[in-house]
Amino acid sequence: MRTKYAVIFICVVALVIIEKESNIISKVSDKLIQRQTPQNDNSTTPRGSAAVLKVLLAKQPATKNNQTHFSERKEEDEMDDMNAQRSSAGQKHVLLMASTRTGSSFVGEFFNQHGETMFYLFEPLWHVERMLATAAEVNNGTDLPVIYRDVLQALFLCDFSLLEKFISPPPKNHVTPYLFRRESSLSLCEEAVCTTVLKGVFERYRCKIRQCGPLNLTLASESCLSKQYHTIKAVRVRQLDTLQPLVVDPRLDVTVIQLVRDPRAILASRMVAFSSKYKTWKAWAKDGQVPENDEEVRRLKGNCDQVRISAELGLSKPHWLKGRYMLVRYEDIARYPMQKAEEMYKFTGIPFSSQAREWILRNTQTTEEASGIYSTQKNSSEQAEKWRITIPFTLVQVVQNVCGPTMKLFGYKFVDNENTLINKSISLLEDKEFL
Ligand SMILES: *[C@@H]1O[C@H](CO)[C@@H](O)[C@H](O)[C@H]1NC(C)=O
Ligand SMILES: *[C@@H]1O[C@H](CO)[C@@H](O)[C@H](O)[C@H]1NC(C)=O
Ligand SMILES: *[C@@H]1O[C@H](CO)[C@@H](O)[C@H](O)[C@H]1NC(C)=O
Ligand SMILES: *[C@@H]1O[C@H](CO)[C@@H](O)[C@H](O)[C@H]1NC(C)=O
Ligand SMILES: *[C@@H]1O[C@H](CO)[C@@H](O)[C@H](O)[C@H]1NC(C)=O
Ligand SMILES: *[C@@H]1O[C@H](CO)[C@@H](O)[C@H](O)[C@H]1NC(C)=O
Repeated sequence: MRTKYAVIFICVVALVIIEKESNIISKVSDKLIQRQTPQNDNSTTPRGSAAVLKVLLAKQPATKNNQTHFSERKEEDEMDDMNAQRSSAGQKHVLLMASTRTGSSFVGEFFNQHGETMFYLFEPLWHVERMLATAAEVNNGTDLPVIYRDVLQALFLCDFSLLEKFISPPPKNHVTPYLFRRESSLSLCEEAVCTTVLKGVFERYRCKIRQCGPLNLTLASESCLSKQYHTIKAVRVRQLDTLQPLVVDPRLDVTVIQLVRDPRAILASRMVAFSSKYKTWKAWAKDGQVPENDEEVRRLKGNCDQVRISAELGLSKPHWLKGRYMLVRYEDIARYPMQKAEEMYKFTGIPFSSQAREWILRNTQTTEEASGIYSTQKNSSEQAEKWRITIPFTLVQVVQNVCGPTMKLFGYKFVDNENTLINKSISLLEDKEFL
C-alpha cells in the first residue's frame, strides 16, 4: 500500500514539474479560454476544452521524448503478465480505424447491428475535430492525435465526461440534443437511454430518434457499462502508433481494424461527396493538367503515406499489437461481405450474431425492393468499381505517382492506359492476404 502512495506522490510531483515547464501549452489553453468564453459564459459545465487541453497536452513531453523504446522494452517483459491480468472480464473493444470514403459506415453497421450486447459509437471524434482542428494554437500533427486517443480511451471505459467538453453547445446537466449522428448508434436509441415519456421507438434495424428525446449522457454511460462489446468507428485517427497506450490499457481488450481502399477510388468518391472541397481536382480533371508540386497533391501523398505507415506498423506485429491488429480492404468486403464480416468477428472474439448476419444479407443483395436508405444497398461489388468510369485517367496517373508504395502494399494494380482503367473485365485487385 505504502509504495502505491509513494508512486502516486512521485507522479503528482512529476506532473507539477511538467506543467510548470509547459508555458506554451498554457498560452494555447488561455487563448482557447478567451475564444470560448463568449459562448460558455453561464453554462454549468466546466470551461470547455481549454482546461482539458491543458491536462492532455501536459502529458505530451513524455511521449515526445525518446522514451518509446525504453517503455516498449519494459513492456515486453510485462506483456505476458498483462494479457493474463486484463481485467476486462470478457469485455471487448473494437476500434474501426478508417478514412473517409472507405466504406467505414457500412462496415460499422456490421457491428452496430450486432444486437443488445453491443455498444456502438459513430464518429464521436467529430466533436473534437470541430472544436480543435481549426484552433490555430493546436498543433494538428502532434496534439490532436493524442487528444483523439484519450477521448477514445475514456469512451471505451464508458466515461463520457471528456467527450462532453468538446460538445458544443455544451450539454446541460449531462444532457444534450447535439451528439453528432446519434441516430447512427442503435445503442443510443434504446429505451434505456431515452428521456421523453414517449419512449424510443426503433424498428429492428433503424433508429427513430425524434421520439427519444435529448441524450442523457449519464444514462448512455450506464447503458455502455452494461454491455459486453464496444465498437467505435473513427475516420480521424490516422497514426496507429499514437494508439499504443490505449491498446495496452489493461482495463480494455482492444482490437484495431484498419479499413483501407484503393486511393484512386477514394479520390473519385471524395470528388463527388465533398464537391466544394475538391474544386481544384475537378478543375484539373477538366483541363487535364495537374501541377505536380501543388499543395493538394502533397496532401494526397501525405494521406496515402500515413495510411501506409500505419498499416506497415500493424502488419509488422509489434509486441503491443500482436493479435490486436487486422487490415481489411474495402474491395474484399464488397466482394465477400459475409465472409469478411465473419473473419472480423472471429478476430475480435465477438460472436457473429444472427442479427448482424441478417442485416448484411439484406444490405448486400441486389433486390428491386431495396429502399435506398443506405447507399450500400445496391450490389456492393458493382458499386465498388464504379469509380473506374467516373475518374479521368490523368488523375489516376497522379494518384499512382504519389500513392505508389501504398497501392503496392495493399495490392492495387496500376493501369497505364485509359482502356484498361474502364474495362471492368480487367481486375485491378490482387488477391492478397494480410496476416
Ligand atoms: C445565462 O444567464 C442569464 C443571466 O444570469 C440568464 O438569464 C440566462 O437564462 C442564462 N442562459 C442560459 C442558457 O442558462
Ligand atoms: C529516438 O530513438 C531512435 C532509436 O534509438 C532514433 O533513431 C531516433 O532518432 C530518436 N529520436 C529522437 C527524436 O531522438
Ligand atoms: C490546424 O488545422 C487547421 C485547419 O486545417 C488550420 O487552420 C490550423 O492553422 C492548423 N494549426 C496548426 C498549428 O497547424
Ligand atoms: C439523467 O439520468 C440520470 C441517471 O438516471 C438521472 O439521475 C438524471 O437526473 C438525468 N438527468 C436529467 C437532466 O434528466
Ligand atoms: C453484383 O455485380 C457483379 C458485377 O456486375 C456480379 O458479378 C455479381 O453477380 C452481382 N451480385 C449479385 C448478388 O447480384
Ligand atoms: C477488356 O479486356 C478483356 C480482357 O483483356 C478483352 O478481352 C476485351 O476485349 C476488353 N474490352 C474492351 C472493350 O476493350
